Amino acid sequence: MTAENPSEAQIAVHWREEDYYQPPATFIAQANAADPAIFDRFAEERFPECFKEYADLLDWDAYWHTTLDTSNPPFWKWFVGGRLNASYNCVDRHLAKDRNKAALIWVPEPESEDPQAVTYQELYKRVNEFAALLRDFCGLKTGDRVTFHLPMVPELPVSMLACARLGVIHSEVFGGFSGTACGDRVADSGSHILVTMDGYYRNGELVDHKSKADEAVEAAAKLGVEVEKVLVWRRRRGQYASKAAMIEGRDFFVDEVMGDYRGSLVEPVSMPAEAPLFLMYTSGTTARPKGCQHSTGGYLAYVTGTSKYYQDIHPEDTYWCMADIGWITGHSYIVYGPLSLGTTSVVYEGVPTYPDPGRPWRIAERLGVTIFHTAPTAIRMLRKLGPDEPLRYNYRFKHMTTVGEPIEPDVWRWYHDVVGKGQAVIVDTWWQTENGGFLGSTLPAVHPMKPGSCGPGVLGVYPVIYDEDRNVVEAGSGKAGNICIRNPWPGIFQTIWGQPERFVELYYAKYCADTDSKDWHDWPYLAGDGATLGADGYFRILGRIDDVINVAGHRLGTKELESAALTVEEIAEAAAVPVMDELRGRAVEMYIALKPGIAASKDIEDKVVAAIDSRIGKIARPKNVWTVADMPKTRSGKIMRRVIASISNFADVGDITTLANPEIVDDIRHRVQREKSVRGEVPRELTSQEREEIEAYGQTD
Ligand code: WTA
Repeated sequence: MTAENPSEAQIAVHWREEDYYQPPATFIAQANAADPAIFDRFAEERFPECFKEYADLLDWDAYWHTTLDTSNPPFWKWFVGGRLNASYNCVDRHLAKDRNKAALIWVPEPESEDPQAVTYQELYKRVNEFAALLRDFCGLKTGDRVTFHLPMVPELPVSMLACARLGVIHSEVFGGFSGTACGDRVADSGSHILVTMDGYYRNGELVDHKSKADEAVEAAAKLGVEVEKVLVWRRRRGQYASKAAMIEGRDFFVDEVMGDYRGSLVEPVSMPAEAPLFLMYTSGTTARPKGCQHSTGGYLAYVTGTSKYYQDIHPEDTYWCMADIGWITGHSYIVYGPLSLGTTSVVYEGVPTYPDPGRPWRIAERLGVTIFHTAPTAIRMLRKLGPDEPLRYNYRFKHMTTVGEPIEPDVWRWYHDVVGKGQAVIVDTWWQTENGGFLGSTLPAVHPMKPGSCGPGVLGVYPVIYDEDRNVVEAGSGKAGNICIRNPWPGIFQTIWGQPERFVELYYAKYCADTDSKDWHDWPYLAGDGATLGADGYFRILGRIDDVINVAGHRLGTKELESAALTVEEIAEAAAVPVMDELRGRAVEMYIALKPGIAASKDIEDKVVAAIDSRIGKIARPKNVWTVADMPKTRSGKIMRRVIASISNFADVGDITTLANPEIVDDIRHRVQREKSVRGEVPRELTSQEREEIEAYGQTD
């Protein structure tokens, strides 16, 4: 962040205070954590030993001798000396009591296909067989990395748990990402095995997915990493859903190879608590994605504990998180947390509005879902398309979650009143890929809910808001600043895979008081979000401070978008900016300037869209591409993203007198806003908070 520009942290935010909602008595009566004495158990003076309570929810092969080792800050180590296996904890240990209880219920997208229950016994068998295949057919061993590019099918948790059984590090790439994006991540992680599926159903279509694996292998090869084997699960037994050829000697159908491993059992490898369990890539300030490395013991303890107290999961619940397992939410709160607690976790293949916006509520009714978990984007979409649909179905949620983006208070109220029928408690959970599990949330049976605020820090997590000068922004001051976590917690990622310097620089350097200190108090974790803190101790998350655009809950780095656009030969400069979007929260608009002598054309704009589709994926597709004669720039040549962001959002462009080319601003504004008006894309007036976000946009250069 530059010193001369005001950052989001210095901008005062005024937001109307919302009324509180109390948790229903029926919820409190059955909750895992209903006694406020729990806050004493997790009080700061009990840190770090308080987290023994979470670790004790797991089965350990050997207990740890040191709860938190801070000898090499900020590379914290949790439960040092402890040994365990994550697959054992999520599967084997439930067999004695719950062998034939559903671990997973998979709901295929086509309604003509019935839901399929995978019992803990069946999961145990499948995990063992696939682990045997990975070990003996692929030659994988503890510490190796494997990339998955799998959709929402039971084979994904099976593959994850099979790796965990062997101590092999899995790295799942969201199925909606392009083959090239997958290949970049294959190369970064140094995976030589890629696990994929031939196809899957999405919005009524059987998508050809295997073809992306071919692109991924090619992209990884260009980066110097050779994929030796591609394992292809098949969506429909005996059929092949892809047009892409199977490459002899490289590509294998899992169901064919599996013949040799039927009935195999693989002893779970007893792993040190500190061994990496998986990588999850996310976006940030630069074009290179960051592979967040999560630990085995700390991570599993953290997601298990937060699933118990914040998701209020009981073994008898039917729990449905509608996120994609390709994101951290799915890893922590579809697979590892719920299965560790031995509950039934629902996995839905398709889109929430297929074939109509009643689908999620039909699924909830049919399966008897008691806990429901989704993101504001899905809630906004379901409200728009079927505002009264939930009332037509006879289900009853006791608990609901919102995650991933700020939720507008009126969207929250629809979720509460209509989806939850006024009977369910809601948690608005704030956290990130880097964090393993929740950071901010109300404790559902104890704290009242406040629409639009996540609540206080969760048990054992102590957030603080700092301004640019490391002064604490006081509760109730109405000022925004950078939210940080003062202490380490077991779910925190261990490092960025292969880039430890970047880990320190991005998350700790800004507010570290003393880089020689071994005391964790000197190393606050910078989350990368702007936030305010109410007088009631509830945080309101405002959004990213690092040029990440949150589209429908997906974190897209502007630099990634821009470098994708710059692969189009005719383009000299590209800038990605956020526009307010009624359904997806934010959408991306791309501005491009062409090389000298090249005439603007629809063809070039289409190439930009195609480049983003192919390098990142359709989720990142820009809403509009605008070709401009020149970008508004400072005298030192920096593109003023806030100016074009203001234009795209019909906001005031602010002071442009310091630009090298202020005359360009009016040209761009007339052209873009005229066309948007013709297309009916004039946004509603921005709230003061949104205006401030746009004004602060692009300040991190
Ligand atoms: C945003 C998703 C407001 C935030 C778990 C964060 C939220 C980024 C919330 C992380 C929330 C997440 N309210 N904003 N409840 N939860 N965010 O890594 O900007 O995909 O930094 O992890 O989403 O996104 P990620």
